Amino acid sequence: MKLKDLYINFFISKGHKQIPSSPVVPENDNTVLFNTAGMQPLTPYLKGEKHPLGTRLVDYQKCVRTNDLDEVGDATHHTFFEMLGNWSLGDYFKKESIAWSFEFLTDVLHIPVEKLAVTVFEGNDLVERDEESAEIWKSLGISEDRICYLGVDDNWWPNMEMFGPCGPDTEIFYFRSNDPVPERFDPKDDRWVEIWNNVFMQYNHDENGFAPLKQKNVDTGMGVERTTAILEGVDDNYLSSIFKGYIELIEEYSNKPYDGEYKKSMRIIADHARAVTIISGEDSGIKPSNTDQGYVLRRLIRRIIRHENKLGIDINGEFLSKLINKIIDDYKEYYPELEKNREVVLSVVETEKNKFSKTLDKGLKEFNKVALSSTKVIDAASAFHLYDTYGFPIELTCELASEKGLDVDVDGFHERFKKHQELSRAGAENKFKSGLAGTSEIETKYHTVTHLLNAALKIVLNDKNIHQMGSNITPERMRFDFNFDRKLTDEEKKSLEDLINSWISEDLKVTKSEMSKLDAVKSGAEAMFIEKYPEVVSVYTIGDVSKEICTGPHVESTSELHHFKIVKEEASSAGVRRIKAILD
Ligand code: SER
Repeated sequence: MKLKDLYINFFISKGHKQIPSSPVVPENDNTVLFNTAGMQPLTPYLKGEKHPLGTRLVDYQKCVRTNDLDEVGDATHHTFFEMLGNWSLGDYFKKESIAWSFEFLTDVLHIPVEKLAVTVFEGNDLVERDEESAEIWKSLGISEDRICYLGVDDNWWPNMEMFGPCGPDTEIFYFRSNDPVPERFDPKDDRWVEIWNNVFMQYNHDENGFAPLKQKNVDTGMGVERTTAILEGVDDNYLSSIFKGYIELIEEYSNKPYDGEYKKSMRIIADHARAVTIISGEDSGIKPSNTDQGYVLRRLIRRIIRHENKLGIDINGEFLSKLINKIIDDYKEYYPELEKNREVVLSVVETEKNKFSKTLDKGLKEFNKVALSSTKVIDAASAFHLYDTYGFPIELTCELASEKGLDVDVDGFHERFKKHQELSRAGAENKFKSGLAGTSEIETKYHTVTHLLNAALKIVLNDKNIHQMGSNITPERMRFDFNFDRKLTDEEKKSLEDLINSWISEDLKVTKSEMSKLDAVKSGAEAMFIEKYPEVVSVYTIGDVSKEICTGPHVESTSELHHFKIVKEEASSAGVRRIKAILD
């Protein structure tokens, strides 16, 4: 039985209810791009809200961490990983939590107690030294020499800076080495690796400081990849049963062994392909783009392709779709959305691959030219050229540069990037303004229907990441650009017209309210040029179908718009479609 199943069954036997993994792209939290820990989706319940399944919960949770993306390629770092967790929401506390962790590790996983050690919290102004946890560990058979007291840097989760539920923790370590196990536990000795973290969440941290939570919770987290490798006796996660099949496929298609100089590229491909499959296989429908989760997806796919190329794999061949299909087959039992969205994932990867494979060779040639003429640092202009013309994310240029012992002027790149964005925004805004200058009645109508089209596209194309990329209004017609990868079908165009005309006939009221930029974004208002808006903005709401930050003017209710008709749908630029429409 797999570790995941053993874990879930064990905690169900201790009165826990299994909850499904939440999406890795958070549904109701736009402050983070991805779920990075099992507890994240449970935050409201840790703060005291009642959970419908009670006070003891267990799950495996999809997590994505991108802060150490550059470390991926070593034996243990991953972008996507799964976290096992059990929770007490004001139910049991230290005694049961520690005892069950011990029982699971020693009785179910058969880890010898000699190979285990723990850390506990040494205490601070808020919470006393955790003698209680230490005593519990001792009573279970962990010797005093194997217990270390550490401070907030090690035994406070998440840390003293971040807001939200938090508290002291006790961490469990395993001696991952064939060396004789030392009597005394030294947490600085990296043969001891952390496998499980039991957090005793007692506080909420916000801008006013730390306040006790309504209830004392337990939040635990165990990484599936690391623990599986430990149980299988390998010190490279990519040699465990989780990754082995993927590495073998890469070996087959590259005709190279998982060894020496090839290891890093093979690990990056295996890791990133899992993350890409999980992210694009969710119902949120994230597509590669230049912002937020879409940008992470783009970087991951482009990095896979670059490393395929490095290993001599035919990037236009079947390899990547084979790998993705294999990942879906392995995970569909746990994440059924992957099977449902199999074709979506394959087409996301295929489309991005087609885009990038066209420019990769030329871009690499250009990079080599630039590298040859650079002594220490690749300048900002060259890095921007690689981005703008060949689609090289800055991180890719940095990776290529570091392989040649060069740095990149990343700050300079970002300055250029910003200037470039401002210029195109200014261009777009000017057009936008000119569309509205001396706004006539018909132009005002077109302006309102622009908001309806922006909302309708997300619904009809089932993709909430579609946004306005530009707009131009004349008394004759409206023009609207949006990010989307393919031509719309006749049915989709008809659905757009029907949906907008149904909103028109419902005579939805258009209302305006003023609020701070932050509140507007929090309220979910669509915003095109967020950094350019003043601190107080106008938000226009149309019935309950649209909410956008905008300067207006708009009609008062949608019946004034009469009838909406699309006259043309075409490509505007790569990844951007353009709709021209009239009101008749
Ligand atoms: N929140 C803790 C962690 O992520 C325990 O689940 O390590």
